[in-house]
Amino acid sequence: MLQVKPADPLPPGLRGHSFTNFQVAPYNEEPYRICTAYVERFPELKSGQGLVLTGKSGTGKTHLACAVANALKEKYWVQFAHVPTLLEKMRGGSFDLEPLLNAHLLILDDIGSERESPWTTERLLIIVEGRLVHCRPTIYTSNYETADFDKRLGMRLASRILGHNVALVLHGPDYRLQRYGY
Ligand SMILES: Nc1ncnc2c1ncn2[C@@H]1O[C@H](COP(=O)(O)OP(=O)(O)OP(=O)(O)O)[C@@H](O)[C@H]1O
Ligand SMILES: [Mg+2]
Repeated sequence: MLQVKPADPLPPGLRGHSFTNFQVAPYNEEPYRICTAYVERFPELKSGQGLVLTGKSGTGKTHLACAVANALKEKYWVQFAHVPTLLEKMRGGSFDLEPLLNAHLLILDDIGSERESPWTTERLLIIVEGRLVHCRPTIYTSNYETADFDKRLGMRLASRILGHNVALVLHGPDYRLQRYGY
């Protein structure tokens, strides 16, 4: 449990993402249900099990990951990082990894969309492995199908991410485009 309430861990545009403003339809009902159950089960999770949300753009991956984060952030230490942005900051020099390694829950948004190199893979391995060994759960979102993680992220990252988390696929329309009537 938190002793001191931190500043909101989510960027302003993602703070409003909740389960109540997520439209549930047959194509996303299962991921929605598993994410709400994950919040319920979170206090008892011991193994560091997290979630992997995949699917096409605009199907609600970031929304659902942030709904989990928003539901837990009052009681737990939650951190959020957009992977390409995180790696860009890390390239810039000194970077405090501790919050990402130690938070009770970390959201790694958009894994796979970073510019890939041995350096980025190594940085991501440090975070993923560092959290695994301390049984700290992570929620990943990605546009890549889990079957392609190996190719996109490399065997070592793919094995750790897929071996410790429940994978969920978001189907349905691109809600971004729908909003503007496309
Ligand atoms: N089921 C839904 N109900 C209500 N709003 C939704 C739903 N799915 C997505 N949205 C909204 O659509 C927008 C895009 O959703 P989101 O950012 O979660 O997409 P994404 O799957 O992460 O896409 P990308 O792969 O491009 O990152 C957001 O404003 C989000 O709130
Ligand atoms: Mg997203």
